[in-house]
Amino acid sequence: MRVTMIGAGYVGLVSGVCFADFGHDVTCVDKDERKIALLREGKMPIYEPGLDELVAQNVREGRLSFTTDASDAIRNADAVFIAVGTPSRRGDGHADLSYVFAAAEEIADLMQGYTVVVTKSTVPVGTGDEVEKRILARRPDADFAVVSNPEFLREGAAINDFKRPDRVVVGGAEDPRARKVVEELYRPLYLNETPIVFTERRTSELIKYAANAFLAMKITFINEMADLCEKVGADVQQVARGIGLDNRIGAKFLNAGPGYGGSCFPKDTIALVRTAQEYGAPVRLIETTVAINDDRKAAMADRIIAAVGGDVKGKTIAMLGLAFKPNTDDMRDAPALDIVPALQKAGAKIRAFDPESMEEAAHLLKGVEFATGPYDCVKGADAVAILTEWDQFRALDLKRMKELLKTPVVVDLRNVYKPGEMRERGFTYVSIGRPGT
Ligand code: NAD
Ligand code: UGA
Repeated sequence: MRVTMIGAGYVGLVSGVCFADFGHDVTCVDKDERKIALLREGKMPIYEPGLDELVAQNVREGRLSFTTDASDAIRNADAVFIAVGTPSRRGDGHADLSYVFAAAEEIADLMQGYTVVVTKSTVPVGTGDEVEKRILARRPDADFAVVSNPEFLREGAAINDFKRPDRVVVGGAEDPRARKVVEELYRPLYLNETPIVFTERRTSELIKYAANAFLAMKITFINEMADLCEKVGADVQQVARGIGLDNRIGAKFLNAGPGYGGSCFPKDTIALVRTAQEYGAPVRLIETTVAINDDRKAAMADRIIAAVGGDVKGKTIAMLGLAFKPNTDDMRDAPALDIVPALQKAGAKIRAFDPESMEEAAHLLKGVEFATGPYDCVKGADAVAILTEWDQFRALDLKRMKELLKTPVVVDLRNVYKPGEMRERGFTYVSIGRPGT
């Protein structure tokens, strides 16, 4: 199959290289010249484990190429994927579909012969209908199908998630020609019996939002349980284990923390709330989830301030981790973006270290001193806060860290360490939802 991927970001690039690895002939198109130049030099514009090797291999074997000029790629394609961003629209929280529609119009102008246009971007219910309408308006004669194929990969585990997904969802492939293209695209997944859910386009679009909203709600549920645990003297990790062993609940996504962040849960929950309001069927659980999560991120700064005695004026707080989760350089809606400014406002000096996201963080956070490593970061600090559970922060030399800190205060927002052990070592230790915190 000849595949064109419009948008070579986290989703487009990973999907593109994985389709190439499935044996298809893939062109990734991005209007960002810097990104394409880097990719052509074999350099990755994002940090995603395993991506560089897989890209290099597929480029070498002639199945993957990169361009800023979509013309040939779209003309020759059997399937053109739209994998551009759908950020929150400023002001109202609806998904901003301008990139999607711009890509659709470009496809309309260039496609030749039967083409399957696949929306991989996360788009509100009805977007596929609108994409179809816009293509037809420009090319009434065009022979095409618009299919929804939402993506469920997670950053940091993206390649494995794409190649070994729990399921693939495909909406609107009623035309047998479209269905055949989709089946061919995902052939390796058919062979390993991955469930492929064929459904209507609007249903498929909603499945994506429902999945993200449910996961965001699950995290928010355990976060509230953590708050309750702190009041009643229970342990949220044990509560999570105790409920998660029930197959109807499931053990995953029950790690209490500083609130969910990232490029998707925050924007997708709000977009779903807006869609539901617009259709007169409000999703109040998700409205509440959004509000609780916003409050939670704000409250994390207070937790750090309280740990150093209620006043951070003139004090240095060391931040280990800035990205919204480990194994990514992505800073979009990271809890650090709420916590750091709130601490600065209260008078704290911030020194931070993150293995991958500091370059991006430097654009978003002002007045932060960036350290060269975790020990450089904690040196002379009045407290250290663990914001992201990178593996290297799970195995810190605690003796060394204690010696370097001015006062041995650790605020562990990811429950990486054990409260008992930390206290035995002489730390003032605050974590999330565990006895004594
Ligand atoms: P991103 O911002 O990393 O990448 C989008 C890319 O599209 C950018 O490089 C941009 O330059 C490019 N682009 C925009 N308009 C273009 C055009 N007309 N032609 C060519 N290139 C164009 O975004 P992302 O994180 O990859 O997300 C893309 C979509 O996938 C979003 O809808 C998101 O909600 C969804 N999604 C993301 C993830 C994730 O983990 N990041 C997972 C599942 C779904
Ligand atoms: C999430 C979903 O997991 C993907 O299935 C989906 O495709 C993607 O959004 C998307 O639509 O973009 P991602 O944002 O990469 O993936 O990362 P997650 O691992 O889901 O984490 C999101 C946030 O929730 C992070 O801030 C993380 O720290 C937090 N989280 C996650 C918790 O606080 N507790 C948990 O138990 C799990």
